[in-house]
Amino acid sequence: MAQGFTGADEIVAKYGGDKSALIQVLLDIQRENRWLPKDALKLVSRKLGIPLTQIYHTSTFYKAFSLTPKGRHSVSVCLGTACQVRGAPRLLDRVVETFKIKPGETSTDMRFSLDTVNCLGCCALGPVMVVDSEYYGKPSAKELEQIAAACE
Ligand code: FES
Repeated sequence: MAQGFTGADEIVAKYGGDKSALIQVLLDIQRENRWLPKDALKLVSRKLGIPLTQIYHTSTFYKAFSLTPKGRHSVSVCLGTACQVRGAPRLLDRVVETFKIKPGETSTDMRFSLDTVNCLGCCALGPVMVVDSEYYGKPSAKELEQIAAACE
């Protein structure tokens, strides 16, 4: 079955069909669709004249890319050393409980995807989580519930 995607044609055209822009093209497709659909990768392969295997290699190498559909809201919990010391494992447990998904998963209603990361560069706020580019330091259980409820 074909996987729906948007913008791949325009994105390839925006970079003038330049092979060396592969990563930028993939980043734009990822941003537009929240993942890299197989049919979009086939189109990129055809248009840029790059073997599909090479595109898959690039897509799996960088953590920014996902080959599976992602939820509408991205939730990341920092498990870097400073956050670990400040209670990140407890925060992650609470996030798993509140958002009802495990790290690396997407909720069945496609609302959330949860990932863990290693240091977001704001250790003093730790333990830190990020929801759609919004940073939260030491969120309480109540705040987590409010954050989850605010995400449609
Ligand atoms: S270790 Fe979590 S922000 Fe640095």
